[in-house]
Amino acid sequence: MSQTAERIETLLKERRTYQPPAAFKRTAHVRSKKPYQEASRDRLKFWAARAKELEWFKPWKKVLEWNPPHAKWFVGGKLNASVNCLDRHLKNGRRNKVALIWEGEPGDRRTLSYWDLHREVCRFANVLRDLGVKKGDRVAIYMPMIPEVVVAMLACARIGAPHSVVFGGFSAESLKDRINDAEATVLITADKGYRRGQVVPLKRNADEALKETPTIRHVVVVARDGKGSEAAGIEMQPGRDHWYHELMSRASPDAKPAVMDAEDLLFILYTSGTTGKPKGIVHTTGGYLTHVTATTKWVFDLKDDDVFWCTADVGWVTGHSYIVYGPLSLGATVVMYEGAPDWPDKDRFWEIVERYGVTVFYTAPTAIRAFMKWGPEYPARHDLSSLRLLGTVGEPINPEAWIWYHQHIGGKRCPIVDTWWQTETGGIMITPLPGVTRTKPGSATLPFPGIEAALLDGDGNEIKVGGGFLAITSPWPGMLRTIYKDDQRYRDTYWGRWPGKYFTGDGAKRDRDGYFWILGRVDDVLNVAGHRIGTMEVESALVSHPAVAEAAVVGKPHELKGQALVAFVILRAGVSNRPELADELKQHVATKIGAIARPDDIIFTADLPKTRSGKIMRRLLKDIAAGRALGDVTTLADPAVVQALKEKYEEQES
Ligand code: PRX
Repeated sequence: MSQTAERIETLLKERRTYQPPAAFKRTAHVRSKKPYQEASRDRLKFWAARAKELEWFKPWKKVLEWNPPHAKWFVGGKLNASVNCLDRHLKNGRRNKVALIWEGEPGDRRTLSYWDLHREVCRFANVLRDLGVKKGDRVAIYMPMIPEVVVAMLACARIGAPHSVVFGGFSAESLKDRINDAEATVLITADKGYRRGQVVPLKRNADEALKETPTIRHVVVVARDGKGSEAAGIEMQPGRDHWYHELMSRASPDAKPAVMDAEDLLFILYTSGTTGKPKGIVHTTGGYLTHVTATTKWVFDLKDDDVFWCTADVGWVTGHSYIVYGPLSLGATVVMYEGAPDWPDKDRFWEIVERYGVTVFYTAPTAIRAFMKWGPEYPARHDLSSLRLLGTVGEPINPEAWIWYHQHIGGKRCPIVDTWWQTETGGIMITPLPGVTRTKPGSATLPFPGIEAALLDGDGNEIKVGGGFLAITSPWPGMLRTIYKDDQRYRDTYWGRWPGKYFTGDGAKRDRDGYFWILGRVDDVLNVAGHRIGTMEVESALVSHPAVAEAAVVGKPHELKGQALVAFVILRAGVSNRPELADELKQHVATKIGAIARPDDIIFTADLPKTRSGKIMRRLLKDIAAGRALGDVTTLADPAVVQALKEKYEEQES
């Protein structure tokens, strides 16, 4: 049975349902199905009402202009994202409310009020302007999870300079490629960060990248442990590199916000696709902010006394939308934590929940599966009674993990919102509304009001009940506008399959209640521990090693990570297979891309299963990697290759 079919089988067996608890429902922002009805009657009016909850310098003239596949939302409207996230809370009674509660991995803590954050952001906006950054210039950000990363993003938004945040776990080479694609003129980084007790040498990695980034004029370096504790051995290149604290000490706390068009770029965020080159996903200002603000409010039911903790890194879209733009736009209190969940011990998250009285907690299934493995004694050490709502994102959640989360973290009283969305969608698309939706473990349930999703077959026919490709059938405010400098790829990847309908790359199943059950990617993209990795990127990294002639990378099911990478490698003629070569290749991939892309297994082979036209049969490699019976081999040029490989893999695994 194929992996997808197996998943459908398990999911079909899942019949438990959970109604929103009465106590939750009583106070929820959304208590009835009315928004669904309003949105289906008039989708544009529905979104316009959500946009009106933001502060605009100038109202829009038209809600949507749709020239497939290009959408413009809130046409003619003018606003600034940092004004929405900060300035408006200085006038609405929240200026001394805590915006950020931050905890570093070593245990250091800081809190910033909305007023504090506003001052810091304005100062840094002035710093960037003094460095010559103008509206439209791209700024790269490569930082640990410290408050300054939020300051940097909002300062960019304030002056209208699109940011491109690069996850701190990415390698120098990945950083270099992203800087060069965006042609960023300034890089903001830090001397170091902390992760699982180790120092992450961000500036050192950045220096490696900066050797080949001709567009960068200035580098701003945050001293992670403050002035006077700058990491030893940091080299500062005169004229190019500047300490953040030095520039900030001279900067004024007043900075006029740039007046941005609703369709001006807010940020670029790179994500993996099916080629070796990551895609620069382009998000603009008005529609994105409307989408993330509305979904934060209704999906997480955020109120003024909530303490919201989204455990993602700001280097991913989840951090952009649900640590920074959504919650801050609502004036919420946000918890931000720098490090690993098992440092110094496996109860770190629960210690944080207890210490700050976290009420709404949003994490990934891969983390939940790790908590399950560690055992319920870790959460049991702490008082988690402040929690009232739980969320998950990033990959399909298996019903067992859902039930465990419900029981051991949520004390059986918290609704769970399983939220399906993507870097490209900007914000949550398919999700329960916690005061309304009856949930089923493993199902992301129904599209958010104003979002239209369907399951289609290869020809674009709709499948009402059963399995198919997940499509979004009409434009939505937070949608990506294009791929940076590659509109053709945008057209081909997302809109090439069915005209006017967005192809998500995911397979899903729909049950008789219309609920969506996401099964996972149907393209050559893998989801490892909630991180998106293109098989082609890993293959390119492998073949850049002098010993490798050819490589094929596939995913195999993994208990904790959801999927793990398996690489089949053909060595160059004359290269002998040294015992340490597999580890060397794994390390090579980690150095090229980042530790998240390190393959679990490397299988050396003399041959790969190919069709007569020379195409690698990945389906068979997946079967081998998953230890399944081999599928159809009749189209193979040489069926013996695959049988030999299978035997070899089984021998290696045993
Ligand atoms: O396969 C889906 C999976 O993650 C992919 C998007 O990855 P990325 O752009 O990195 O964004 C992750 C965070 C929004 C999707 O194509 N995915 C995301 N959420 C879910 C999910 N799969 C199942 N259930 C989810 N709730």
